[in-house]
Amino acid sequence: MEQRKPKRYTVTAALPYANGPLHIGHLAGAYLPADIFVRYLRLHRRDVVFICGSDEHGAAITLRAKKEGTTPQQIIQKYHELNQQAFADFGISFDIYHRTSDPLHYDTAQSFFLQLEKNGVFEVEESEQYYDEEFSQFLADRYITGTCPKCSSSGAYGDQCEKCGSSLNPTDLIQPISTLSGKPPVKRKTRHWYLPMQHHQEWVEEWIKTGRYPSMKYPVVPHDANAWKQHVRGQCMSWLRDGLKSRAMTRDLDWGVPVPLPHTEGKVLYVWLDAPIGYISATRQWATNNNKDWKPYWQDPDTQLVHFIGKDNIVFHCIIFPILLQAHGDYILPDNIPANEFLNLEGDKISTSRNHAVWLHEYLLDLPMRKDELRYVLTSISPENADSEFTWKDYQTRINSELVAILGNFVNRVWVLYHKYYNGVVQYAEFQDSGVKEVIAQTYDALAQNMEQYKFRQALTEVIDLARFGNKYLTEKEPWKKFATNPEQTAQALSDCLLLIAHLGALMQPFLPDTAVRIFEMLNFQKLQIDWDEEISLPQGHVIRNPVLLFEKMEDDAIEKQIAKLAQAKTENTQSTEDASLAISPLKPEITFDEFARMDLRIGTIKEAVRVPKADKLLQLTIDTGIDIRTVVSGIAEHYSPEEVIGKQVVLLANLAARKLRNIESQGMILMAKDPQGKLYFVSPEQVVRPGSDVA
Ligand code: 2FM
Ligand code: ZN
Repeated sequence: MEQRKPKRYTVTAALPYANGPLHIGHLAGAYLPADIFVRYLRLHRRDVVFICGSDEHGAAITLRAKKEGTTPQQIIQKYHELNQQAFADFGISFDIYHRTSDPLHYDTAQSFFLQLEKNGVFEVEESEQYYDEEFSQFLADRYITGTCPKCSSSGAYGDQCEKCGSSLNPTDLIQPISTLSGKPPVKRKTRHWYLPMQHHQEWVEEWIKTGRYPSMKYPVVPHDANAWKQHVRGQCMSWLRDGLKSRAMTRDLDWGVPVPLPHTEGKVLYVWLDAPIGYISATRQWATNNNKDWKPYWQDPDTQLVHFIGKDNIVFHCIIFPILLQAHGDYILPDNIPANEFLNLEGDKISTSRNHAVWLHEYLLDLPMRKDELRYVLTSISPENADSEFTWKDYQTRINSELVAILGNFVNRVWVLYHKYYNGVVQYAEFQDSGVKEVIAQTYDALAQNMEQYKFRQALTEVIDLARFGNKYLTEKEPWKKFATNPEQTAQALSDCLLLIAHLGALMQPFLPDTAVRIFEMLNFQKLQIDWDEEISLPQGHVIRNPVLLFEKMEDDAIEKQIAKLAQAKTENTQSTEDASLAISPLKPEITFDEFARMDLRIGTIKEAVRVPKADKLLQLTIDTGIDIRTVVSGIAEHYSPEEVIGKQVVLLANLAARKLRNIESQGMILMAKDPQGKLYFVSPEQVVRPGSDVA
């Protein structure tokens, strides 16, 4: 396959929802690899724009606002700022961090929609969807809960049951309840704009398999289909095998980009036609800010478009968004979507709702000055082709045995010796040992090759291996022994090590940007960024500065504190799950009066009570119902002793079909009140009444 030589690059990173803080999974999944790639491109002086911003729409934001009694605007403002700051703190070097609530985005998304509409891309269909009459609104999938039709557990959402993982339609739920009003929703007709993706199946399949596609406007150099990650292709192929289906591109919601057509009040563009168009609006804003033309970055086939995302957005960016771009007609398609898989944490999935996460905004408060360390560890364990795991112990080991013991140690050894023997005055400007020069050249090549293939983990290994080589070289040269006997050779070896460190600094820039700057400062360079085609030389007589400690050892107590923090979150979460399960149960579906009247409820008096053998919860009661004396087995033994209940008057469901419990026939059921803690109380008449009295 002919190697594509793009004129420019448009690199996007998934717009995170502005409805919560970011954690290390976000960083490892999309933003850090994207940043490494972009920094690498910049070091080659390539023309690149790096795009991101807040996704400020979606049902989750309105739901959160409703729950917290605030407005979506307040939620997005808070998290837009928090997340933008977190990205900046970790050196994610976006050219722009835009937001989808910006008027420019509304304009871009609406124009895009109208062009698709004009091209006849949509099918408008009417269907029945759930509507909350009390709140006067259609319900997004997440606003409806009910019993899962697959596993029968309660609390399944309209789009998914989190217990068994089945993906659902809201209409699949048994006894659906609106989470807004707590009442059963009704079905109402509504109209939506659908993208019939099945019409695009053929070219999408061809494009994903071979890189060729029928551009409407441009002859496009096909991307190298083999360059896509296997798990990305795999997910796409599995969707294609199932057959592409029609999907609604609009929703009934009062928060989002309004559908720009008459008689569409209360309808907005769905995330698929909103968030990725946010990449385009952001590029427009960036171009305006920098006096540039945005169009070539999205419309010139000489542009390489790359989307960095997590694996939950693969189909979105590999199938849905390309269909939209192609159907519009003016746009190029992505060259690659190097999605990462998931990062787990201490043996468990990262979970925002369970607070099982390392939050970026907290990390730097707890571990100040450890930004590059996190970038290093997350890149070393990056879930590039499979899920991977972050543990605090591993974080500690990687810092202490790689950053401190290899990289930091090498730099420190060289600095100490150079100051000791030469007062920091450079002895040789050029490499004296061609072997060292050669190893460095190979590292540049290996790094470039890996970076172009989105293999950042391996690329980082090359950097550390170069430091390892430096350490070994220094040990072999034994300057501390040979300085007296062979001063020239020692000066040559130490000068080569110094140059090697300068190159290490240049090579580590995409991964460890702050550390690279500190190395350049120690070298007393004027420029604190070194492009990869620049000649690095240290003129004879140049004076290097005093050393600074590049990495500090990670002590046990700091690590233990972090582990304890996660453990505490777990305890609190278990507690709150228990609390939640103690919550008042939701209303059951309505029954008619006739249905109620069929129950024969009457007062009975407990005459005898004994424990049921081998059943901790059961008492066998003998009850005078006024009509007969009967046996009822009741699950109250953990709350009342037999002695306590004798003589009590109870409400009895007398016409309940008899059933056997522990081989005893139970003829009816007594009614008990159960408080949120699960404690049972008798439901009894205020005063003693005649057994057999009706309860109505
Ligand atoms: O899944 C998400 O996080 C959404 N905010 C969409 C991200 S992808 C995009 F920006 F296109
Ligand atoms: Zn289920």
